Amino acid sequence: MDYRSTKAGVFAVALSFSVVPVAAVFAASPDPVKAEHGMVVTTQHLASEVGVEVLKNGGNAVDAAVAVGYALAVVYPTAGNIGGGGFMTIRLKDGKTTFLDFRERAPLGSTKTMYLDDKGNMVKGLSTDGYLAVGVPGSVLGFETARTKYGTKSREELMGPAIRFARDGFVLDQGDVASLQNGAKKLVKDKTAAEIFLKPDGKTYAIGETLVQPDLAATLASISEKGPDAFYKGATADAIVKASQAGRGVLAKADFEQYSVREFEPVKCNYRGYDIVSSPPPSSGGVIICEILNVLEGYPLGYLGYGSAETVHAMVEAMRHAYVDRNASLGDPDFVDNPVKKLLDKQYAKEIREKISPFKAGVSQELMPKGFGESTETTHYSIVDDEGNAVAVTYTLNGSFGAGVVAPGTGVLLNNEMDDFTAKPGVANLYGLIQGEANAIQPKKTPLSSMSPTIISKDGKPFMVIGSPGGARIITITLEAIINVIDHGMNIQEAIDAPRIHHQWLPDKVYMEPYALSADTRKILTEMGHDVEIDKSWTIWGQAAGILVGGESLADIEKGGGARYNGAMDSRSGSGEALGY
Ligand code: DON
Repeated sequence: MDYRSTKAGVFAVALSFSVVPVAAVFAASPDPVKAEHGMVVTTQHLASEVGVEVLKNGGNAVDAAVAVGYALAVVYPTAGNIGGGGFMTIRLKDGKTTFLDFRERAPLGSTKTMYLDDKGNMVKGLSTDGYLAVGVPGSVLGFETARTKYGTKSREELMGPAIRFARDGFVLDQGDVASLQNGAKKLVKDKTAAEIFLKPDGKTYAIGETLVQPDLAATLASISEKGPDAFYKGATADAIVKASQAGRGVLAKADFEQYSVREFEPVKCNYRGYDIVSSPPPSSGGVIICEILNVLEGYPLGYLGYGSAETVHAMVEAMRHAYVDRNASLGDPDFVDNPVKKLLDKQYAKEIREKISPFKAGVSQELMPKGFGESTETTHYSIVDDEGNAVAVTYTLNGSFGAGVVAPGTGVLLNNEMDDFTAKPGVANLYGLIQGEANAIQPKKTPLSSMSPTIISKDGKPFMVIGSPGGARIITITLEAIINVIDHGMNIQEAIDAPRIHHQWLPDKVYMEPYALSADTRKILTEMGHDVEIDKSWTIWGQAAGILVGGESLADIEKGGGARYNGAMDSRSGSGEALGY
């Protein structure tokens, strides 16, 4: 029997099996989904079903991650992709951990100033819309590398469901339609994208209608049959390069031919006895989550309480300091010497704590590094299998529907990941990040990311799988889910659903999700000197996907006898689902 979450999912189970999870007495969130053999949590329920089927058929968590990755490229086109890139953090049942980097690279024809006019000013839209915004995609080679190194199933088996969804279509639910409506303004500008994702009359599809993607089906089928060369050396690359040349882009065949996946040691740190394994550069995610956790370890957050002014003050100041380091010093490790060791050092965290006043907000401008100048959509999924292998994947087109362009005949939406670079020091990117030289554009370089697919273990056993979309906020979204479980005792669903706060050094503001802080807490924070702003733009607060092992919360785990796998899809998600078996 399958165990499901989501409003739609619980309803479906209630109808077919009369098994409705019993709501926790005090929780405002739905109960986590419980299962004994495997758990798949993704932002689209059909993709979760694909992952569970792979597990049931004897595939491991990596097999399921590959099948889910391809499925989301069809059923979650806003972020799922084969025209973008991402990261996969893996923890095998024997405790070995590794990290695959299949993020985009800057094309050979890119230059440091490619998004500036002749006066040195940013040209609006150039790094976000159209072919010049596109980085060389990595997802196809990423999934194939994962499958061949750590999976057990054939490519044909893992790609089958995605090909069927693209060829035969899938029925759109409310979340799918909302996401297409969200992207309509961008998609209408590209003839090929509009033909796929909008109806012939230019309107968006309605709930219950079927989205068919025959070109994408053909592209996927050729990858399934011939392998990644069909994408990187064959007709797909040719079509993308041709469309790019016609659309003022710089992509060349050599970019595709030279693309490679990198395997890195993940970043590791320990927080209150929990072993955190997360994304290393070219992501800032793992390093900055660890840096913030190291600082926060010096504060009794559980005692101070969730959402209290003291807790929020400590979090904001830790975030402020860590994002300076992110924005000033991190970049692609093939190009930049990243000070990872220093940023992960507990002594360095202590030095940061010594600079934090317990009574007064810090001032971001005073932390401006020397020589720094003046100045949505991604998707995450979490999987564990019966053997205890765990996989966390975050991948993306960057902005919702990426650059909004599809090369004719391919069906492949292309990313706008180039916007994650520092196009101009001191000028904010799509996520308001003000970054420095370490993340400047260079051919074949990967832009600095915030994506943070994270796996936590305790006493050598898997404990939590977690991650989220959300641009620069991915780091704080993931962090808050972790401390909500470890410090505040929430169950995994509550930890993910709880309202969030965010600070990223610049702008010097504490962003809060509506209702995250009470009026009197805000008053205290304001009196301390914090500039607190409610941010109602719902897409930017992410959609975390998490799994807790051994119980739904710390108390449940300690009591013993909790469910083995406890899955939670963010209640902010329109179409996602935690599904176990
Ligand atoms: O890699 C990064 O940090 C960004 N490209 C992620 C973008 C993202 O999360 C958009 N979703 N809301």
